[in-house]
Amino acid sequence: MSRRGLLTGGALAAGGALAGGAAIAATRVGRTKPPSATAADTTLAATVGGLVEPFHGARQAGVATEPQAHASFVALTVRAGVDRAALGRMLRLLTDDAARLTQGRPALADTEAELGLLPARLTVTFGFGPGLYRAAGVDDRRPASVSDLPSFRIDRLQPAWSGGDLLLQICADDAISVAHAQRVLIKDSRPFATVRWVQQGFRRSPGVEPGGHTQRNLFGQLDGTANPRPGAPMDTALWVPDGPAWLRDSTTVVVRRISMNMETWDLLGRTDRELAVGRRLDTGAPLTGTAEHDEPDFAATDADGLTVIPDFSHLTRAHVTDDRLKILRRPYNYDGVPTAEGHADSGLIFTSYQADIARQFLPIQRRLADRDLLNEWTTPIGSAVFAIPPGCQPGGWIGEQVLG
Ligand code: HEM
Repeated sequence: MSRRGLLTGGALAAGGALAGGAAIAATRVGRTKPPSATAADTTLAATVGGLVEPFHGARQAGVATEPQAHASFVALTVRAGVDRAALGRMLRLLTDDAARLTQGRPALADTEAELGLLPARLTVTFGFGPGLYRAAGVDDRRPASVSDLPSFRIDRLQPAWSGGDLLLQICADDAISVAHAQRVLIKDSRPFATVRWVQQGFRRSPGVEPGGHTQRNLFGQLDGTANPRPGAPMDTALWVPDGPAWLRDSTTVVVRRISMNMETWDLLGRTDRELAVGRRLDTGAPLTGTAEHDEPDFAATDADGLTVIPDFSHLTRAHVTDDRLKILRRPYNYDGVPTAEGHADSGLIFTSYQADIARQFLPIQRRLADRDLLNEWTTPIGSAVFAIPPGCQPGGWIGEQVLG
């Protein structure tokens, strides 16, 4: 049977005794190995490589998931003439790849099957850009806030890092697991779509710090402190609680490539660096506190009557207290090739997840674009928005509620 035949013939469900389910924490690969497994795999259960995140569920993985160390964001452009039916075929195929690889099983016809055995908490998250809804003729199923962002005065956007019809967000605690999944997914999408951009980033690797630490960006700042806490606060910020099947349990993502000027940041003293953000570099505590998670006191003043946390600090301008208005930031650092003069090409692949871009992301971004001391050293050079449709159950496929 051809691979396409296999998928459309329902063999997916028959052969799909996948691990996973509703568990939130990663579990270890603990099932019969495929025939290609080697003796070395007997120690799998003790390694980071053997950790598995569930693929199936009401909501897609890779959003509320504890961030993995490596990420590749792949934006595709749908080829001319690819319609709703063809997009459905592509997403069935890519869902099958993702369902297998995330559970430590090679993809069907995997040309490097051994690379599919160590998922290292691999997640594949699918995002739909405005162009995908247009191509499929289902614009009435596009969440209203998933449309091109207004331009901001700080933007220096490059087409090479902007837009996209389909996002494949591939994350794992191992760069080889990410590279292999990226290769499989791009190869299988080729009849339907072309590659628009790929952005690769990293965070601290597992085991480098004890669990629960906030990662650092390349400016050396603790980045992620004020994210909504897992559980009810995060759920409120992220997931659409009701509505039609294509909307319920969906979320959205804004991907911004933000370059960080290491050369001019280097010229700043420690105090000025801390004033720009409103937090200390060592502990991440607000300038009015002593511990990372202390509440900032924006009214506190110093001996000169000036606010201790500057009014135009990143913290003051970005601060949100209402969970319904918060965003989840899950940024990855990027570090490209320096110039011949040794100037760094560093920055953030800044990702903001929220139930509604217009209600949550835009007001924060407007305030920051208007006034934020950090703008002096950061420049948005890429921007894209995607809906993250609901998840799927075994035998289903990502996008079935939108395109089915
Ligand atoms: C390269 C660009 C950026 C850098 C280096 C950066 C860095 C930081 C740092 C160090 C913090 C304090 C610790 C924390 O809570 O994570 C922070 C907080 C925050 N940032 Fe950014 N950020 C950047 C861009 C953005 C953008 C584009 C947005 C949204 C449009 C944003 C929204 C926020 C929010 C909402 C907070 C939490 C504020 C609070 O309630 O305390 N940041 N950022």
